[in-house]
Amino acid sequence: MSADTLIGVYPPLETAALRGRTRPGAFPWSQPGVRLTHLGRGAAWLALEALGLGRGSRVAMPAYHCGSEVEAAHLRGCDVVFYRVDADLRVDEDDMRRAAAQADALYLISNFGFPMPEAPARIVTIEDAAHALFSLDPDGRPLGARGDAAVFCPRKSLGLPDGGAVLVRAGEPRAVDRRPRAKAMLRSTASLAMFRAAISRAAPLRRAATRAIGHASVGDAAARSGDLTEVVIGEWGLEPHDMENAAGRPSRLTAALVRRADPERIRARRRANYARLLAELGDLAPAAHRALPDGCAPLYFPALAPDRPAAIRGLLEHGVRPLEVWPVPHPLLDRARFAELEPLRAGLLALPVHQALGEREITSVLEAARRVLR
Ligand SMILES: Cc1ncc(COP(=O)(O)O)c(C=O)c1O
Repeated sequence: MSADTLIGVYPPLETAALRGRTRPGAFPWSQPGVRLTHLGRGAAWLALEALGLGRGSRVAMPAYHCGSEVEAAHLRGCDVVFYRVDADLRVDEDDMRRAAAQADALYLISNFGFPMPEAPARIVTIEDAAHALFSLDPDGRPLGARGDAAVFCPRKSLGLPDGGAVLVRAGEPRAVDRRPRAKAMLRSTASLAMFRAAISRAAPLRRAATRAIGHASVGDAAARSGDLTEVVIGEWGLEPHDMENAAGRPSRLTAALVRRADPERIRARRRANYARLLAELGDLAPAAHRALPDGCAPLYFPALAPDRPAAIRGLLEHGVRPLEVWPVPHPLLDRARFAELEPLRAGLLALPVHQALGEREITSVLEAARRVLR
């Protein structure tokens, strides 16, 4: 069976955001030391620089990571000391403190928008909230508000063609006067618009967009043939000039829209959607993600599949386009030492819960997950 809709993990272009008012009071836009960048890794690059971390510095980073943040530290010339994240996706806080005691700075990562551990006192801290824009901790504080610097990735949570953001508590990140290539941004915007059409209520439009994405997507073709990991990785082996490009200004569209997103609406919708999936699929999530903490705005729902390539193919057939979650760590990581994470790297996939999905669409996600993952 081939579905007549395609629900992606990241939100599509949000037409409602085009009409909204700007919200300069929303965190992190309200903060004096915030700067928009082209990509999240560029924000990490600028955060490290602003805190004086470079050649000769040591940074403690979690063994479970995306890879591009580690690449930013590596290209800055920092040595990276990894700390343990266990097989349930919980940071081993004793090991984190051990690593932090040997380092000049501690790098924390929010997995999928969930709260990060408390940093020990008196260590320079970077909070990576690339998954956690508009997410709050259970005390109601925004993720990214506690560290000496924070990294955000609005492109992932707001349906924008690009966009990272860096926040430096004392001082200002450097301004990098570069712009992304217009052609690439046009392609990215067109793809977001197609994903919007692929969840439209108008059936002919929805079908046409779903078919068009199916023909055009290199990722979907790779998923069907089982080569997805090879196609999606590529966050390392970069050069400093790639990081400078990523640290440059975002596209004009992103710059114009990013401050119009409504944090409360987005948080409420994501929470409601996550709760629907949790009620039925909770046992498939890593233990750390089987409850939704107060205030958390999840980026997606993580589920373990024993045969992930087959699960991704099946979900695509049913109109849901999942992501592989962090399948390959940065090459600096000793994978044998952190072998307990290998089942997650091999089996974890992300299901959509984003704010463009209402009851009807999340019901479709659940139906697809029921058929394929059960
Ligand atoms: C935790 C984390 N940090 C940083 C990044 C970098 O973001 P970008 O891909 O926009 O460079 C990502 C995503 O790739 C991420 O997941």
